Amino acid sequence: MKNEKTTLNIAIDGPAGSGKSTVAKLIAKELSIAYLDTGAMYRALGLKACINGISVFDEQAVTAMLKETCIDIKYDGGVQHLFLDGEDVGLRIRENHISQLASDISKIHAVRLAMVDLQRKIASERDCVLDGRDIGSFVLPNAKHKIFLTASIEERAKRRHKELLSRGETVILDELTKDIATRDQNDMTRDFAPLVKAKDAIEIDTTKMSIGEVVRSILSYIK
Ligand code: DC
Repeated sequence: MKNEKTTLNIAIDGPAGSGKSTVAKLIAKELSIAYLDTGAMYRALGLKACINGISVFDEQAVTAMLKETCIDIKYDGGVQHLFLDGEDVGLRIRENHISQLASDISKIHAVRLAMVDLQRKIASERDCVLDGRDIGSFVLPNAKHKIFLTASIEERAKRRHKELLSRGETVILDELTKDIATRDQNDMTRDFAPLVKAKDAIEIDTTKMSIGEVVRSILSYIK
């Protein structure tokens, strides 16, 4: 008889600033399982294209770059470290200008197929909470739990603003709000695996909720 161990996968999707990564990290910690930030993979590719002067709209050049790229995820005490061609780029990929590059490069089919393969492989090897845009709808349609987080655009922009400031990056709130709206549009309207709530996901509007409240409500749903 085939001995197939199924892993526990929790999908947390939603637009930028909806609280996904903070919440996903806390849920993973609470359940003592790994956390996979899938956006980090697209960010790493956006960063590499930027360093190499490759347009994220040039499908051929990006596809060629992809063949020469190694993205590796390693875990240290449940914490994810992303290595791009051997270098830990965890901090560099968080810079604000990488966000739009990640969104644009993620539209290229070869990019998405390669990243989705990697995400599925990681999810099949360990229990984990994954956050992204298409985890419940495309990457892991059979995930045990699916959560879709939302929040008003004003609140999401405020959160991102605070996060960037805490990293020492100065950005104008109004510009950030516009950037997020553009990215939402980009992520929701791409033809392949767009940002969408999976039919069987539970939706939580986090606009007026604290992180603790969101985490507690997800944990009570899971348990
Ligand atoms: O979650 P994030 O802001 O780090 O994601 C950056 C971009 O990467 C996002 O705007 C779209 C893309 N992305 C994606 O297409 N699919 C995912 N599962 C995660 C991110």
